[in-house]
Amino acid sequence: MGKTTAGEQQPDLRELAVPAHVAMILDGNGRWAKKRGLPRQMGHKKGCETLEQIIGDAAEIGIRYLTVYAFSTENWRRPEDEVGALMQLFRYYAKRLLKRARENNIRVKMIGERHRFSPDLVEAINMLERETKDNTGMTFIFAVNYGSRDEITRAVRRMVSDCQSGTLSPASITEECVASYLDTAGIPDPDLLIRTSGELRLSNFLLWQLAYAEFYVTDCLWPDFNREELVEAIRHYNKRERRFGGVTAVPNK
Ligand code: IPE
Ligand code: IPE
Ligand code: MG
Repeated sequence: MGKTTAGEQQPDLRELAVPAHVAMILDGNGRWAKKRGLPRQMGHKKGCETLEQIIGDAAEIGIRYLTVYAFSTENWRRPEDEVGALMQLFRYYAKRLLKRARENNIRVKMIGERHRFSPDLVEAINMLERETKDNTGMTFIFAVNYGSRDEITRAVRRMVSDCQSGTLSPASITEECVASYLDTAGIPDPDLLIRTSGELRLSNFLLWQLAYAEFYVTDCLWPDFNREELVEAIRHYNKRERRFGGVTAVPNK
């Protein structure tokens, strides 16, 4: 979480271990706009442009999975016009993302509860997943109407229902089994979590999956985030010693 001291020798990206899965909490759009005397919506618009750029950078750097928290189950509490503007941006960027994902061999997945969105948006999300499911490059996962507690609650509901119908037995419920009922089934846990804009909290993001992730928080506001900031986070990740509860360090990869 600390900052690099001025003058410190920076290793080249080629010398760094690139985390396989990077998760990011894209925070600070509102503050970015406020600093400029603009409406919050303008921060979200710039934030989307930044995200588009970062998806390309992450794929180039060699990140295998990139998960971004774009809209939480709690974000519906925001003023109606802000939520409306965010939905318009999702609509627009879902189309652009499909084109870019096709061109760049990116597989796209959504986590969260999609049925609260309007039918056209649900169809756009389904299409994104369907059309890119066989792509073999980076997997880009976007968390919208996502809340970890909601995800776990939905998983428990399905597990209980499967137990009742006899397709699952309580004795066979292992950690792997629970993970397979989450929206992130089949996706390895994140290695590195980045949160922009300085808040030291998870805000209901991937509570199960982040059990052993390394955390990196930067004061940089999301719309200002860029490739250099991402590389800086990876540099910090490389200095961490991961032990997973043991006594010896597990090499970063
Ligand atoms: C993150 O930026 C985007 C969403 C949560 C949709 P914010 O809108 O939370 O920005 P701040 O935290 O108010 O600066
Ligand atoms: C977390 O940011 C959710 C997303 C970035 C989508 P918030 O801005 O909603 O989080 P809090 O309210 O500061 O915890
Ligand atoms: Mg915020």
